[in-house]
Amino acid sequence: MRAEANGPQIAGPAAGALPDPCAFVADDVLRYCAPLPGLLVDLGSGPGAVGLALARAAGRAVLLVDPDEKALRQAADRAGQEGLAGRVATVLGRAEALPLRSDTAALVVSRGSIFFWDNPVAGLREVYRVLRVGGKATIGGGLGTEYPEWARLEFGRRRLEGERSRGAESYGEFQRLRHPSTFRAWGQGAGLGSFEVVGDEGRSAEASFAGAGIWLRFTKGCADDR
Ligand SMILES: C[S@@+](CC[C@H](N)C(=O)[O-])C[C@H]1O[C@@H](n2cnc3c(N)ncnc32)[C@H](O)[C@@H]1O
Repeated sequence: MRAEANGPQIAGPAAGALPDPCAFVADDVLRYCAPLPGLLVDLGSGPGAVGLALARAAGRAVLLVDPDEKALRQAADRAGQEGLAGRVATVLGRAEALPLRSDTAALVVSRGSIFFWDNPVAGLREVYRVLRVGGKATIGGGLGTEYPEWARLEFGRRRLEGERSRGAESYGEFQRLRHPSTFRAWGQGAGLGSFEVVGDEGRSAEASFAGAGIWLRFTKGCADDR
């Protein structure tokens, strides 16, 4: 469903809390990336919402990486409360200098974080470095393709309202960062070779809703493929 010219009709309990998108995002990660055996990484995890959902959905170990120590403590506490302590580990670090050996990760997911990196191109190079051959990355932001449409519309409406209230300059930057051309420039700058940019958040932000998401996805090939 797409927004109508005269504005979307929102069905569902839009006035209150919206469903947590993280389980939907984790399902997409497994569906679209089908990670190899090995380490799963949630980069820029914050308090771990996506990483924990991924640990639960995949039944596998997930390493959460973030420069915010307090957020990582919250993530570890939450993992304990949710019975995931044995499957979730945290490490302090930034995308631009990942505290991981080369060729080690089966998957790197990063949601809602690249927009805050000091240097997205350097961060993407690092993600490529730490992936093992055949490892996959999905870096961007969004709610998950199966997120209920009414909630997607309401999420987008609230977020646009919030971004616009910060002023034209901030709103313009918000849109620029989420535009497919920005993602393509980052991927090319990082020398990723083949990658895809999926989603259309930049364009949907121009409409009366946003939140469809935008992701840069790539697979690490052999050195010759690059
Ligand atoms: C909006 S939060 C997203 C948190 C979580 N991924 C989610 O989906 O809810 C952005 C996160 O990116 C982290 N971050 C900021 N700069 C970063 C960098 N250079 N490298 C990695 N993470 C960074 C912040 O500390 C914060 O936890």
